[in-house]
Amino acid sequence: MLSVVVLISGTGSNLLALLKAIESPLVPVRVLAVGSDSAAPGLAHADLYGIPTFVVEPHRFPDRESWAKRLQETIEGFKPDLVALAGFMKILPPSFIRRFSPNLINIHPSLLPLFPGAHAVRDTLAAGATETGATIHIVDEGVDTGPVIAQKTVAVMPGDDINTLHERIKNQERQLLIDTIIGVAEKRIDLAKV
Ligand code: GAR
Repeated sequence: MLSVVVLISGTGSNLLALLKAIESPLVPVRVLAVGSDSAAPGLAHADLYGIPTFVVEPHRFPDRESWAKRLQETIEGFKPDLVALAGFMKILPPSFIRRFSPNLINIHPSLLPLFPGAHAVRDTLAAGATETGATIHIVDEGVDTGPVIAQKTVAVMPGDDINTLHERIKNQERQLLIDTIIGVAEKRIDLAKV
């Protein structure tokens, strides 16, 4: 059984898809807890499934290091095998990343290394790209630079705006996230060797 802590910052549609996908007892994945840097609406999905949630807000700490230390300690309390960033929008310091990587994965709405950062979909449209996609990768100390585990391509359609394009990308991301976590649980994916 692979135990996972998921971190989110927003609506948590990727989290919800994961929770639905692992509902069957035949799937060897368990979400131990869901955390956030704010009172994110997506935490309600965890509540619905009876999964513990926690919020560690950066503004309550004197600096990023002490915030991340508390976040790290909170996660460690659950003893997860894997930490999944599913729309977690804060940059984590190297100390946090060294503690969990390579068992620390992130989803990103572009074909990395193209369009890293917090505004990938907006930047894709601004660049006039005709194709983009979704990436799942191991988190390293850079911003969206870690080893790629899997990617899926999504066409940019004429008339797409940030919302329409992001929604089509999210449809692919959700499957990538589920496939990757189940792949790790079933030992088809070895994160130490990506
Ligand atoms: C997802 O598209 C995810 O890739 C993105 O936030 C969205 C969260 O959606 N993450 C990043 O941009 C990280 N740089 P959700 O809250 O509906 O799952």
